[in-house]
Amino acid sequence: MFVLENVSKEYANSQVRSFAMRDVTLRIDRGELICVTGKSGSGKSTLLGILGLINQPTSGDVSFDDRRVSDASDAELAQIRRQKIGIIFQQFNLHPTLTAVENVMYPLYMLKDRQARSKAIQALADVGMDAFADRKPKQLSGGQMQRVSIARAFAKKPELIIADEPTANLDTENTQIVYQLLQRLNHEKGVTLVIATHDRDFSDSAVRRLNMQDGRLL
Ligand SMILES: Nc1ncnc2c1ncn2[C@@H]1O[C@H](COP(=O)(O)OP(=O)(O)O)[C@@H](O)[C@H]1O
Ligand SMILES: [Mg+2]
Repeated sequence: MFVLENVSKEYANSQVRSFAMRDVTLRIDRGELICVTGKSGSGKSTLLGILGLINQPTSGDVSFDDRRVSDASDAELAQIRRQKIGIIFQQFNLHPTLTAVENVMYPLYMLKDRQARSKAIQALADVGMDAFADRKPKQLSGGQMQRVSIARAFAKKPELIIADEPTANLDTENTQIVYQLLQRLNHEKGVTLVIATHDRDFSDSAVRRLNMQDGRLL
């Protein structure tokens, strides 16, 4: 699915240049469940941003589904992302003025899917949130918001889901629920999953773990 060759991401201002990611070479196959671990600042979000086609590397090659994307335009990247990639954020990133079901419909609506509402309701049911479809985010708990954002990420049946510390703002019980939902997406629906996490229990159980330190893959 993904091939990264000597991929680096560098940030520069007038005084200093610094590498957020350095010389990462990596291959990800379809159907994998991968945990990315490492201290804060080690480059996990930078790597996930590159895999989610949100960030472009400063050097190196990235291919997604046999297509070179490291030199693609923003419009091309957005197109691939809309169709094939779902993203889950630590801060949920739900739209505050939209209801739960409208949040889940949004990516389907961007794809001009005429069954957006019924697919969104089904996705909410899959995460046990269909009874909350008409609530706004501020009327939901953190755990409930994250379940809605999981539904939003998979309603369009993406090939890849990226989750950047999805349980960092949740209590133990909701952390378990979120990891069970993500594991089920991988096992039952075959979605490739890349998750950055500090949760040792979960990362220890992952089939594959990528450990980062100072922007490098150990
Ligand atoms: N937009 C940015 N501008 C400058 N430096 C950045 C930017 N984003 C990340 N960095 C730096 O890159 C390094 C890796 O960051 P990040 O990928 O967010 O790490 P992690 O997710 O593991 O905490 C850090 O040193 C961070 O300060
Ligand atoms: Mg991060």
